[in-house]
Amino acid sequence: MMKTTRTDEANTTDWHESAFDVARGLSAYTGSSLIAGLAEVIARHPQADVGNAFNHKQVACKVWARDSLFDSLGGTFGRIVLLGGWYGVLAGMLFDDARFSIERIDSVDIDESVADVARTLNACAGARFQALTQDMYALDYAGLHADLVINTSCEHIANLRAWLSLLPAGTRVLLQSNDYFSEPTHINCVPSLEAFVAQAGLSQLDYSGALPMKKYTRFMLIGKV
Ligand SMILES: C[S@@+](CC[C@H](N)C(=O)[O-])C[C@H]1O[C@@H](n2cnc3c(N)ncnc32)[C@H](O)[C@@H]1O
Repeated sequence: MMKTTRTDEANTTDWHESAFDVARGLSAYTGSSLIAGLAEVIARHPQADVGNAFNHKQVACKVWARDSLFDSLGGTFGRIVLLGGWYGVLAGMLFDDARFSIERIDSVDIDESVADVARTLNACAGARFQALTQDMYALDYAGLHADLVINTSCEHIANLRAWLSLLPAGTRVLLQSNDYFSEPTHINCVPSLEAFVAQAGLSQLDYSGALPMKKYTRFMLIGKV
C-alpha cells in the first residue's frame, strides 16, 4: 500500500487551491456564470465529485442536450423540472446561455448530498433555481405544471415507462439514456436508439439522436408523453 506523506497532503491542498484559482480565472476570462459557480463549488464543497460531473463526456452530452433543445423547441420556457439533476450542471448551462429565457428550473435528486452543491453552482440564478431532495417517482407532476421535464439519467432509474406514466399526457420531455452497461450504477441501459424510442413510447417525437462517445453511445429523445 502507498504511504501518504505530508508532501502528498500538501499536494492535495495545492491542487484544490489551484483548481479554484484556475476556475476563477476562467470565469473572469469567459464571463461565464457557470464557471463562476464552479469556482464557488470547488471552494465550498471540496467533497463534491465535480471532476466527474464536469468531465468532457458529461459536458459534451449536456451541450448536445442544450443545443438540440433549442433547435427543437426554441429557447423560451416557463418552469423546467430537471430529474436526477445531480449537481445542476445542465441547469447552469441553460442559465448561462443567452439564447434561453427560462422562468425557473427545479432540480430534483434523490441523493441528499447533491442539493447544496447544485445551489452553489446555480447561485447566479437566485430564486429562479431550486434544488429539491426527492424521489422522482414521488412527485405530484400534475401540481408542478412543468413546461418541460428533463431526465438525462434514464439509465439510473429502474422503470422508465412507470415513471413516464406519472406525467400528465402531453407533457414535453427531453430524455437521455445510454448503452454503458458495465457501469454498476446504470440499472436500465438500452442497447440502441430504437430500443430507447420503444422503451419511452412517447406520443410525439420531435427529435431522436445518438452521440457516440469512446466507451458508450448516449441516446436522446425530445417529444411529448
Ligand atoms: C450520476 S447522475 C447523472 C448521470 C447523467 N449522465 C447526467 O449527468 O444527467 C444520476 C443521478 O440520478 C439520481 N437518481 C437516481 N434515481 C433517482 C430517483 N428515483 N429520483 C431522483 N433522482 C434519482 C442520482 O442520485 C444521481 O445523482
